[in-house]
Amino acid sequence: MSALQTEMLAPDAAGVARAAQVLLDGQLVAMPTETVYGLAGDATNDMACARIFEAKDRPRFNPLIVHLPDLEAVSQIAILSPAAVKLADAFWPGPLTLVLPLAKDHGLSPLVTAGLSTVAIRLPAHPVARAFLNAVGRPVAAPSANPSGRISPTTPAHVRAGLNGRIAAILDAGACQVGLESTILAPGVDGTKLLREGGIAREALEPITGPLSIETTPGKVQAPGQLSSHYAPLAAVMLNSDLSDPEAVRIGFGPSTGCDLSLSPSGNPVEAAARLFGLLHEADALASQLGKTVIHIAPIPEVGLGRAVNDRLRRAAAPRE
Ligand code: TXA
Ligand code: MG
Repeated sequence: MSALQTEMLAPDAAGVARAAQVLLDGQLVAMPTETVYGLAGDATNDMACARIFEAKDRPRFNPLIVHLPDLEAVSQIAILSPAAVKLADAFWPGPLTLVLPLAKDHGLSPLVTAGLSTVAIRLPAHPVARAFLNAVGRPVAAPSANPSGRISPTTPAHVRAGLNGRIAAILDAGACQVGLESTILAPGVDGTKLLREGGIAREALEPITGPLSIETTPGKVQAPGQLSSHYAPLAAVMLNSDLSDPEAVRIGFGPSTGCDLSLSPSGNPVEAAARLFGLLHEADALASQLGKTVIHIAPIPEVGLGRAVNDRLRRAAAPRE
């Protein structure tokens, strides 16, 4: 692919307007959201959607999440059941993605849905994302803005490191707050399925959905968030470490001595989620600087967002394909 000059755009009215123009031209823009940076393309444009897969070097045409500004826009491409409306009322805008049946005449590129009869939709809460989506006025497809299989980007610097020269622009709104991708749910007549752990914890969802059936097992759903090796740093990753090996780059959680970096010195899983991908980028850089080949990570409790953090860490540690 010919190298592009990747434009850096400020998160003001002029920057947002320019980003929208670039996107409507069929080019790709890295867009800030509260979870991670998204690699945004026009979801109604086949070429733009194909460019998303090309820029990420994604090996498979997995379905993409469609980003919209409001429920009115959702109702034009998908069917909202009462269960879906209940979830939308409780959690949108925010880090939740709903898999919904496609509406007739949805106009989406088949690359977005990968030929399925459903579509994954999210209304991000980030004010710059919302301004951008309103300016675009069309459904926007956006996977995380990283090369396939690598760590998700939570800062514009991460996006540049992975995709500079491969995308037209980056809308720079600083670091993402949540730091983990959205939770993905599929509401259905016989209950709601959890397809991906993410920015909203199970504990917050189940009062609304009732008991979730969990379908996040690697291999079961053929989509990137479900691949067993994903979110991988270049160095090897070992989990549940006591951090006693001085040959490793050591990442702690909670009060601990002798770690190089910490996910949360106070042991807070929400802070760990927000810092996770940034810290993995840092640990990787530190490993190559010190000539180390392994990253060791302390145990994180399986509660609240700790579950989503552990899910990402297990994939980062899984044998590489
Ligand atoms: O936080 C996020 O969700 C970020 C930001 C940029 O919004 N986006 C993101 O997109 O993580 P992506 O493309 O990396 O994740 C797509 C996931 C797939 O792993 C797949 O599980 C799910 O969305 N997905 C998409 N369409 C689906 C469908 N029709 N049925 C089931 N799962 C679907
Ligand atoms: Mg991703």
